[in-house]
Amino acid sequence: MNIRKILNDRVRLSMDALGVPAECSANISLSKQVKFGDYQANGVMGAGKKLGVNPRELALNIVDKLNLSDIAEKVEVAGPGFINIHLNYSWLSKRLEQALNDDRLGISAVSEPLNIVVDYSSPNLAKEMHVGHIRPTAIGDTVVRVLEFLGHKVVRQNHVGDWGTQFGMLLAHLADGKSGGEDVEIVLADLEVFYREAKKRFDEEEGFDQRARDYVVKLQNGDKTCLTLWEQFIKTSLSHADDIYERLNISLGSENVAGESFYNPYLSEVVEDLLNQGIAKRDQGAVVCFIDEQKDKDGNPAVMIIQKKDGGYLYATTDLAAVRYRTRELHADRVLYFIDMRQSQHMQQVFSVSQAAGYADETVSLEHHPFGTINGSDGKPFKTRSGGTVKLGDLLDEAVERAKKIILEKNPDLDEVSLGEIAQKVGIGAVKYADLSKTRTNDYVFNWDLMLSFEGNTAPYLQYAYSRVQSIFRKAELDPANIRGEVLIVSLQEKSLSLKLSQFEEVLQQVANEAYPHILCNYLYELASCYMSFYESCPILKSDVDEKSRNSRLLLCHLTGRVLKQGLELLGIETMDKM
Ligand code: ARG
Repeated sequence: MNIRKILNDRVRLSMDALGVPAECSANISLSKQVKFGDYQANGVMGAGKKLGVNPRELALNIVDKLNLSDIAEKVEVAGPGFINIHLNYSWLSKRLEQALNDDRLGISAVSEPLNIVVDYSSPNLAKEMHVGHIRPTAIGDTVVRVLEFLGHKVVRQNHVGDWGTQFGMLLAHLADGKSGGEDVEIVLADLEVFYREAKKRFDEEEGFDQRARDYVVKLQNGDKTCLTLWEQFIKTSLSHADDIYERLNISLGSENVAGESFYNPYLSEVVEDLLNQGIAKRDQGAVVCFIDEQKDKDGNPAVMIIQKKDGGYLYATTDLAAVRYRTRELHADRVLYFIDMRQSQHMQQVFSVSQAAGYADETVSLEHHPFGTINGSDGKPFKTRSGGTVKLGDLLDEAVERAKKIILEKNPDLDEVSLGEIAQKVGIGAVKYADLSKTRTNDYVFNWDLMLSFEGNTAPYLQYAYSRVQSIFRKAELDPANIRGEVLIVSLQEKSLSLKLSQFEEVLQQVANEAYPHILCNYLYELASCYMSFYESCPILKSDVDEKSRNSRLLLCHLTGRVLKQGLELLGIETMDKM
């Protein structure tokens, strides 16, 4: 159920009847204060202006024609033309009862599912994943889960960096090792060290740089021995990434890998085609596209190189081939890219050339959803004490260790096995949630104490709220599925909790449209907070509570638990019955 949408549709109907042009939205939003009702329509002022009529009068006319008798108890016009809507809580309680009886919690699947390609995580395979990779990985995975839950068809694309000049250096170094076979995995056990060694030789060793360059050429020309070495390297590096995905509960598998090398066969074709269409030009031996939408201060268009003088192709060429593939072969209606903000210009250039070349027509939505940097307490990018990059694997180890300590303090009698399991879920959940709950376009400061706190907008708080719900049923020795009765919405706390519970679908829709996971996090946090106030002020299992109220409150607890669990699952965060 999406109340916001129902209200939008109904208000729009009366606007239609009054000849208000379709582009004027009813603009339904949540009311900020109880006295303004539960929802309000804010779109009438704009419509009045457009039509040149008094907005308050227009609002009165809209309300006159508005049929909300089933949903609302009271509808009134306020101020210059706001329409305040007070919901009918018996209608709402019926909706909650429906949600309780539905596996999907009353959330409808979209009527017209889209094909949505999502490019996310996409690490560079020359090195191990580092702390910064949490962002494209966790954010992308949440959006993917939400889109799928709403019924869209999603194609995950892990556009790994597995091609390009740095691989020449790595292969040359690998070839000098104990030569292939089972040794490769041992040699590559620490990719970071391997990369550093190769780089050192590249910078210092006579002749090594030339060999590295030869390897690139050989690799790109499909030389057999070179390809075998490369495959070994990529396989090992990908298995490092897979470990991380598994630990982070990320829904990416090897079947989703379509890295840069995947597009290699299409690159010459793309360059040819862009030259033929007159979109690309030869310029001092290279092939370039001029981007008219991006001009420097002298008014010269930005230049995007798609083929170097020596014939080599670039990151941009690959991305153009990827757009073409995603629309033509994967039939994408939307393509979402979760990539660092610093690549915004690059993405805009790729989009504009793709559109000009017809790789994406006007029916396809190409969307870069950028994110900021993770900083340390000094406000600079988060590093280890000695100033090195923080490996993601090490960070996750530390998260679990820290969670263990905190949980043991709270619950010293916990057995070793349960402690391990809980620490795993809490530690990893905390790191992910800290990232997901920040507005993605901002930078944020990495802070262990805040993210692992059991108070505030954190994963442990939400996990704890969920386990509190479960403990009620344990205490009462009740299976929540067996509780019968109506949901009675009486007190203020029951009202706010019920209203929150009914808003899950509109929140998910918003995440699906805007690709901002923090909207879901904020919602879950508010839901948990409403629940805590409800729990404090509405007795449930006390002997003087009549059966009807008791069952109603138990139903509200149960629904809260299910929404929390489902919401956290969409964030890829696990819950537990006891903690
Ligand atoms: N591998 C790239 C990097 O680490 C990110 C790739 C993102 N996806 C893309 N289609 N360009 O910066």
